[in-house]
Amino acid sequence: MNQNRIRVPDLRERKRRGEKIVMLTAYDATMARLLDGAGVDVLLVGDSVGVVVLGYEHTLPVTLDDILHHTRAVARGAGRALVVADMPFMTYQVSIEEAVRNAGRLLQAGAAAVKVEGGGAIAGTVRRMAELGIPVMGHLGLQPQSVHQVGGYRRQASRPEDVDALIEDARALERAGVFAIVLEAIPAEAARRVTAAVAVPTIGIGAGPDCDGQVLVSHDMLGLFDGHIPSFVKQYAHLGDEVGRAARAFVNDVKAGHFPEVPSPVEPRR
Ligand code: KIV
Repeated sequence: MNQNRIRVPDLRERKRRGEKIVMLTAYDATMARLLDGAGVDVLLVGDSVGVVVLGYEHTLPVTLDDILHHTRAVARGAGRALVVADMPFMTYQVSIEEAVRNAGRLLQAGAAAVKVEGGGAIAGTVRRMAELGIPVMGHLGLQPQSVHQVGGYRRQASRPEDVDALIEDARALERAGVFAIVLEAIPAEAARRVTAAVAVPTIGIGAGPDCDGQVLVSHDMLGLFDGHIPSFVKQYAHLGDEVGRAARAFVNDVKAGHFPEVPSPVEPRR
């Protein structure tokens, strides 16, 4: 057991001390090792895997088996980071019983916690999971699993009454027992107010600088994903271009007979 491993209660302590929390998505063991080694605190096995790895248009087709598979891989690669597994669409909405069973399977696969989208409407489910010892991270603001209901990936909480409702949702989640809340695609001022209203840390994505931590989809920030990248993403590398360059060089080498290199003939003895 890694003695430096980040644990669920450490995140609340970080907020109390005013130390930022760093979270990135990870879907396989190699990337988990790289991100963990770079000092990332939380590795989220996000259902964004459906879009940036599996080629779906949105996250709704992602299954529990998909997330179980990727969680096992990330858990094998992670050392210090806390591994959080996203609960896919329809694995926690139908009944509390199903939600508990599915969350339990994600913990058995190596996650230390699960993440669910929604506010007051899922507080009962969150409460039961928390009572049973399953740490839960909330997710408010833009909730990609509701893409059809919202009509696309739109910024949320732009009207004052929306911000009041958001704060209510965050408080309901906190009372139900979440240990942290992701805030996605909301104005910075709304995120600042939610962050001030709860004692659990908020982790923002497109939610301004005043959250207690920040998260990005790793394929977006590494420049690996060739689809739409939200405007709030900062790209720290352009690995997709590098992959293309290396693959073209390999294609050219093989076609030209430059790879594999012909071994130099053994010098004859004199
Ligand atoms: O699935 C995911 O990657 C997420 C992040 C955007 C927070 O939920």
